[in-house]
Amino acid sequence: MEIQGIELSEVTRTYQLGGESFNALDRVNLSIPSGSFVAITGPSGSGKSTLANMIGGLDKPTSGSVNVAGQNLATLNDGDLSQFRNKTVGFVFQSFNLKNDSTALENVMLPLIFAGMRPAQRKIRAAQCLERVGMADRAQHLPNQLSGGQRQRVAIARAIANEPTVILADEPTGNLDSQRGAEVIEMLIDLNREGITLLVITHDAKVASHAHRNIEVLDGRVHDVGDR
Ligand SMILES: Nc1ncnc2c1ncn2[C@@H]1O[C@H](COP(=O)(O)OP(=O)(O)O)[C@@H](O)[C@H]1O
Ligand SMILES: [Mg+2]
Repeated sequence: MEIQGIELSEVTRTYQLGGESFNALDRVNLSIPSGSFVAITGPSGSGKSTLANMIGGLDKPTSGSVNVAGQNLATLNDGDLSQFRNKTVGFVFQSFNLKNDSTALENVMLPLIFAGMRPAQRKIRAAQCLERVGMADRAQHLPNQLSGGQRQRVAIARAIANEPTVILADEPTGNLDSQRGAEVIEMLIDLNREGITLLVITHDAKVASHAHRNIEVLDGRVHDVGDR
């Protein structure tokens, strides 16, 4: 049977540190139906980003398996894995990760170039995505000409460019004031309402209160909040 949501089975990620091994993730089992909105909390260093990186195919488990949208990531070769990251998942990071020498429009076009979309078409698609996040009038601005909230909206436009089924947002409001942060969260929640599976790593209890499910990562182990 094809697994359409996100399914982690006994996922362990071990790092070697000064001759000792350390489990950043420790036998994690997690099943997230598609269309869910999951908030992920937990102290700094608990393994939240490592978890997101597993689901997004940015890192591989030392043992265990990760299935996302019908694909067992362990079976993908490097090319297929790049395509998975490009098409299936949209990433939003705390530090925006925009290309500083490229305009907002060019930043949003990057994943479309990688996906092989033709120039005329990708310009239209990128403009639509900027419009969607209220940044159409800033298309020709460089990131350093934009506020943090505006940069994060460009990052969201880039994340949705290839119509992903999953959005992974790793502390997306961490560098924003509360007003700008709330706007970004509202945008992500809107995308979830349209059917995108949304995982948000956050310290903000208010974000967690909007989620369908709250999980907490502690010492590399995943717990459902209220279920510990
Ligand atoms: N590349 C790495 N090499 C060694 N240790 C790492 C690496 N990446 C993360 N870690 C360690 O794994 C643990 C979990 O990290 P991380 O997932 O980034 O935590 P969080 O996102 O919850 O703050 C931390 O102790 C961190 O130091
Ligand atoms: Mg982190």
